[in-house]
Amino acid sequence: MVTPPNNDMPVIPSTRYAHIVGWGMAVPEKILTNQDLEAIVETSDDWIQSRTGIKERRIAGETESTASLGLKAARKALEVADILPTDIDLIVVATSTPENIFPSTASLIQNWLGANRAGAFDLSAACSGFVYGVDMAAQAIRSGSMQVAVVIGAETMTRVMDWQDRGTCILFGDGAGAVVLKASDVEGGVLSAILRSDGSGGDLLGIPTVGSEDLYHSDFSSNGHKMHKMHMNGGEVFKFATRVIKDSIEQALVKANISIEDLSLIVPHQANERIIKAAARSLNVDPDMFVLNVDRYGNTSAASIPIALCEAIEQKRIKPDDYAAFIGFGGGLTWASMVIKWTGAKTADTRTGLSINQQRRQFSYLSVRVRAQWKRFNQRLQNLADRINPRRGRIRRLRDKADQL
Ligand code: ACO
Repeated sequence: MVTPPNNDMPVIPSTRYAHIVGWGMAVPEKILTNQDLEAIVETSDDWIQSRTGIKERRIAGETESTASLGLKAARKALEVADILPTDIDLIVVATSTPENIFPSTASLIQNWLGANRAGAFDLSAACSGFVYGVDMAAQAIRSGSMQVAVVIGAETMTRVMDWQDRGTCILFGDGAGAVVLKASDVEGGVLSAILRSDGSGGDLLGIPTVGSEDLYHSDFSSNGHKMHKMHMNGGEVFKFATRVIKDSIEQALVKANISIEDLSLIVPHQANERIIKAAARSLNVDPDMFVLNVDRYGNTSAASIPIALCEAIEQKRIKPDDYAAFIGFGGGLTWASMVIKWTGAKTADTRTGLSINQQRRQFSYLSVRVRAQWKRFNQRLQNLADRINPRRGRIRRLRDKADQL
């Protein structure tokens, strides 16, 4: 047993718990295989499979984005939880590939869901982001300030790849996963979390963008990396990952007051099959306890844990009252582990017929779409009227300005 550091003492028992009651995932249709990559960089299917375990990854199409994938995953999670968008108090999107610096991807999704009572923000902790987000949401629920939170991990990593760098472009894929967390007085849900950062390793992987040191219009950052493209020192990140997984999971187990033998499932960040196998060896557990789908999706950064969780649930690898652990690691450097006691949900496929809530959700999504289309139509109409009568346009713009004063 590992003794927890002082600030990681077991969680004070509370009568309020945060349970995962909904889940959903969304990946693009388009598949990029290792063979496809052979035509882009000097690599081989054999090298990629043997060094990483990856066979293929999904790649976002022209009309797909971090927010649209996140939205799809969130809608599915709401469906499973049978919760209305208007019941959501908080939406957190963990991402390294947001739609914008602001407005946040979370705010876009909040609007598209019609979640008009929710707060929303993006969270940047690279591949650990989803676990960070679930912990933030669970804390808010346990404190009593919130009832329902949606945590989404969503990425379009292939849009920030340097397609000339074979050390990174073969690793990443696009996708999103989401969970709904809900307050309950039934014991269980999120039991413990360990969040960590070591910023001294910040130069080992990252995506330089608008920063105080770097000029936005320059092609390279101050330390020589291509702007807006992912760079990574794979070997060093590999060593860091294998070092932190064991300690972090053991600390989360101590905090949750259970032992490794009590765990039924470990959902790790899907970076590399060899990292996961090494973690199983160091924890001395059966590798089958780890969920592994890196072969089909590659590394989807913050989306990888919720996607792997969704697939594990679909495959019935977790049942009520089982204990499971999540472990994320990545840029920052950051790492985060979590222990949960699974309760599950009244799943959509066990409900009969089209529930009232299902109809209300569809109505909410439709009305947001109609409002957005109406706004666009109105804008076009006004532009047309301004072109026909420029004087009217000038007067309208002056009036708008006056209104803003
Ligand atoms: N195809 C063929 N050869 C390649 C490729 C490739 N795609 N990439 C590298 N090589 C070559 C290298 O040039 C090197 O050749 P050399 O020996 O002639 O110099 C050789 O293969 C070995 O290269 P390494 O980088 O040492 O390969 P390694 O076995 O370490 O695998 C990898 C590289 C897959 C990147 C691995 O280090 C890794 O998975 N690292 C961890 C990544 C990770 O965990 N990321 C998580 C965080 S991601 C986030 O937070 C966003």
